[in-house]
Amino acid sequence: MSQGFVYRTRLIFYYKRLSAGPDFLMWKLKGSPLRRIPHLVKRAVVREYAERFQLPVLIESGTQYGQMINAVRKQFREVYTIELDDTNYSQAVKNFAGHKNVHIIHGDSAVELPRLLKSIADPCLFWLDGHSGKTPIMDELQAIFSHKPHQHVPLIDDAHCFGTSPYYPTLDAVKELTQQMNPGATVEVRDNIIRIHNENSVQQDRFGLECDSGAIRPQSLAKEAFTADRSAVRTPHRVSEYGTASPESGVAAHLSPPV
Ligand SMILES: C[S@@+](CC[C@H](N)C(=O)[O-])C[C@H]1O[C@@H](n2cnc3c(N)ncnc32)[C@H](O)[C@@H]1O
Repeated sequence: MSQGFVYRTRLIFYYKRLSAGPDFLMWKLKGSPLRRIPHLVKRAVVREYAERFQLPVLIESGTQYGQMINAVRKQFREVYTIELDDTNYSQAVKNFAGHKNVHIIHGDSAVELPRLLKSIADPCLFWLDGHSGKTPIMDELQAIFSHKPHQHVPLIDDAHCFGTSPYYPTLDAVKELTQQMNPGATVEVRDNIIRIHNENSVQQDRFGLECDSGAIRPQSLAKEAFTADRSAVRTPHRVSEYGTASPESGVAAHLSPPV
């Protein structure tokens, strides 16, 4: 069976699910390189923030093969994903046919996201990952911050590109925009993901106890590797400018065998 065939069908989901654990372990063996955070970690972060801020809707820019959507869709009431590429879009429409809470939108997120937000009435989690060379991130953030009065929570993948790629703004530009449009919001980077949230957003841990952003209970990500569809995985809170993929921090500190 050719790899192209797998990528064009729902088999991609099984392939990605099966390869997630080994992919994570290989990443650990290679010393947890910051620019190649495994998808397992990314989806754990999406799950963590959805639960922590009690967000019923996920909006993703950049569907690609639908890997993120497929991994987390059961945790959300509604999932919207925007894809620019014609082939990826058509494939996602086929692969998610029958999943009533998954909505695939075709187009440039810079244009489609503001349009979509006009129909959204809930606080949302955003997985901003739509890029191919250049990124629509500043337009996306402006649309999100303008959508009042909601306390949306944007997560932005590939933090390492900010300030290093000519197609990306700097992290300072993101902080400045946040400060202008959403004063008081926190911008932090961990595991190569930029995370923006308001301190006064609802924050609860899984047992309904209040917690601040520094008090999230760590849980083994290796466990997540072996139970790919379970809903709640937390990463510990350690801050550095470009993330925590080092032995003493974040995800890397919890590479214990599955329990
Ligand atoms: C890194 S992949 C997304 C991976 C996916 N979010 C996941 O976690 O499984 C980036 C995707 O963004 C799409 N893309 C690029 N620019 C875009 C834009 N302006 N609006 C929407 N999608 C875009 C690309 O076609 C590609 O499929």
